[in-house]
Amino acid sequence: MKKNIKRIAINTGGGDAPGLNAVIRAVVVSAINKGWECFGIRDGYNGLMMPGDYPEGGLIPLTRQSVRGITHLGGTILGTTNKGNPLKYPTKGPGGKMFEKDRSDELVAAFKKNNIDALVALGGDGSLGIANVLSEKGLRTVGVPKTIDNDLDKTVITFGFDSAVSFATECLDRLHSTAEAHRRIMVVEVMGRYAGWIALNAGISGTADAILIPEIPYDINKVADCMKALVKRGKHYGIVVVAEGAKPKGGTVSVLGKELGRAEKLGGAGERVAAELQPLAGKECRTVVLGHLLRGGSPTTFDRLISLRFGAAAVRALEEGRSGVMVALAPPTVQYVPLKEATSRMKTVPLDCDTILSARDLGICFGD
Ligand code: F6P
Repeated sequence: MKKNIKRIAINTGGGDAPGLNAVIRAVVVSAINKGWECFGIRDGYNGLMMPGDYPEGGLIPLTRQSVRGITHLGGTILGTTNKGNPLKYPTKGPGGKMFEKDRSDELVAAFKKNNIDALVALGGDGSLGIANVLSEKGLRTVGVPKTIDNDLDKTVITFGFDSAVSFATECLDRLHSTAEAHRRIMVVEVMGRYAGWIALNAGISGTADAILIPEIPYDINKVADCMKALVKRGKHYGIVVVAEGAKPKGGTVSVLGKELGRAEKLGGAGERVAAELQPLAGKECRTVVLGHLLRGGSPTTFDRLISLRFGAAAVRALEEGRSGVMVALAPPTVQYVPLKEATSRMKTVPLDCDTILSARDLGICFGD
C-alpha cells in the first residue's frame, strides 16, 4: 500500500563493511530528490533506544552536505554496534542479574514519536532479522544486504564481500614470497562466520594450496599429505587458508566466547590448524589472522556500484509502497525479496558449485 512518505531513517547495524557509506549517500540523495527528509540513527538503534547517551542527538539529520565525498570511505558515518540487538537487549534484572529483553515495541514507538514514516536498514542476517520484526510490527521497512561474509540468502552477493575478498587476495599474494623465502607453511585465517565464501574466493584467487571451510569438515592428515606432495614436486612452501568457522571432522568450531545479546565470537581456527599441521607436515607453520582488516578500507569499484544501486533501489521500493523486503542483486538487475525469506536460512557454499569443482580441478586441497 502506498503511503505518503515525508521522513525516513537509515540505520547501520552489526559489523561494518566497505560500502556502508556509499549506500547511505545513495539513500539520502535519492530520498532528498523525492522531497523527503532523511535522518540517520546513531550506533545501530542505540540512538533511538538510548537517546540520553547522545547529547548531540541520537537521530541526526542527513543532508546532501552530510553525505558529500563519502562514497569511497570505509566504516559508517552513523556508527554501528553488535551489542544493541533490540530483540535481545542486555538488561539488568532484579538482583542485578543480566537478561536479554525484547525492546522492539519500545523501538517502534520511538520511530513514531520522531515522526519517521519508514526505515532503510543496512545489515546482515542479524540486523535484517530485526528489520523484519520491525516491519511485522507495522514500521515500513526496506533492508539492504550488507556483510563481508556473503552469507545472506536470496541475493547473489552482499556489499562488502568483494572488498574483503580483494584485500584477502592481496594479503595472500604478499605471503607467497615470505613463505617461499623461509620454506614455511603460512596458515591464513579469514572471517566469514559459518560460511566459507571469503576463504574460498580469496584462496582460489590467491593460489592457496589448501582451503578449509566450514562446509567441508577437514582431516588434518589430508592437509599434511597435500603439503608433503608439494615438497615432492619441488615446492618447499605452502599457503593454507582457513575460514574462522572451519572445523575438523567430528570436531567443533573454535569459539572464543559468547556474551549476552551477541553472536558467538569465533577465533583460533588458524592457530589450531597450524599447531596440528606442523608436526604432521614436518615444516614450520606460522599463522596470520586477517580478522578485522577485512572490514576496513575503501570499497572496491564493484562494491561501490552495488552499494549505490542498492541504496537508490531501497528508496524506489519505499516509493512504490513496499515494506518487509530486502533489495537483492539478481544480475543484471536488482529485485525485492521478502526479508523473512532472506533471513530464514544462512547461505553457505554449495558443495557442488563450480567454484568448488574448479578449485579441486586446480589441485586445491579441502582437507577431505
Ligand atoms: O559478520 C561479519 C563479521 O566480520 C564476521 O565475519 C566475524 O565473525 C564477526 O563479524 C566479528 O565481529 P566483531 O569482532 O566486530 O564482533
